[in-house]
Amino acid sequence: MSTLLESVREKAKKARKHIVLAEGEEERIIRAAGMIVAEKIAKVTLIGNRDVISEKCPSVDLSGVNIFDPMKNDLSKYSELLYELRKAKGMQKSDADKLVLNPLYLGVLMVKSKEADGMVAGAINATGDVLRPALQIIKTAPGINTVSSCFIMVLPKGSTYGDNGVLVFGDCAVNPNPTAEQLVDIAVASAASAKSIAGISPKVALLSFSTKGSARHELVDKVAQATELAHKIAPDLELDGELQLDAAIVDKVAKLKAPQSKVAGHANVLIFPDLQAGNIGYKLVQRFANAEAVGPICQGFNQPVNDLSRGCSAEDVVNVVAMTALQALYK
Ligand code: ACO
Repeated sequence: MSTLLESVREKAKKARKHIVLAEGEEERIIRAAGMIVAEKIAKVTLIGNRDVISEKCPSVDLSGVNIFDPMKNDLSKYSELLYELRKAKGMQKSDADKLVLNPLYLGVLMVKSKEADGMVAGAINATGDVLRPALQIIKTAPGINTVSSCFIMVLPKGSTYGDNGVLVFGDCAVNPNPTAEQLVDIAVASAASAKSIAGISPKVALLSFSTKGSARHELVDKVAQATELAHKIAPDLELDGELQLDAAIVDKVAKLKAPQSKVAGHANVLIFPDLQAGNIGYKLVQRFANAEAVGPICQGFNQPVNDLSRGCSAEDVVNVVAMTALQALYK
């Protein structure tokens, strides 16, 4: 495990947050719950049936784990809450009664009711299905209109890129084609994740195929407009754009292409102009540079909800729960 993840787990232990795991009957999730409680990383609730859970993992000590069985509990307060929150969008009470039986909705409603500090799911559900209930119920944090995601990229030891080899990439998993305003939200949220989870002081670059007007295109205009807006909305944030990747992270190139920029050459938070670039970009670095890609970390929600990769291991679940606990601490 990288020192970054070790440090995230240590900080999470101090945060003492309560995280709900909606896919409570899934084996990797049950094993992770046992580890989280044994290591005191967070308090955990599994949504599911106790007998099913115990039969799946008889060797896991679940004595410190809460189990919430939707079939054995009164869900009326959750369906009332869901109906109240969504009736303006056309939801009927009968729809709410059915939806609360879906653990992804139930988990988010527990967070919304402040019974838990965050939710983690996605081991057996697609990203869209995990995020949609949270987008509908938890909504965005004050001042942010866009939920997005980032990866913390940890390059092999000795790398001098970013902050001693640690960089944050956003958005690599949620918004297919962000507007200039959404790019600003992604930049602000990624900077917050850089601080709270990666523990680095953010220097944000809005990436493009152009540096400071070297090319003309409407796609470049969008990034330049986002840069201007970001300076107005977050004047204290160290941020610059539009920058090509080399100008953003290589000092020599920055001196040639963007000599006035305080961020160019030293950026440690890279904001991609769209999801095609972001998703391909993080995977290139992960594969070619042999970097560890920690994430996707969802950001911008008013209370934290995180999506797992369907190929995740129990250890990955523990790490995502620890990051969720940290987000709850810094929200
Ligand atoms: N930020 C804030 N609110 C949002 C966002 C967002 N990014 N996206 C949707 N919403 C809101 C909508 O306004 C709507 O609110 P309302 O119902 O209160 O009016 C609500 O969320 C639901 O919106 P929908 O349009 O029903 O949601 P949609 O079906 O568009 O799903 C989603 C949103 C899941 C984020 C979608 O954009 C998506 O699937 N993105 C790509 C995910 C993906 O496949 N990523 C790649 C794989 S991950 C990886 O490789 C690591």
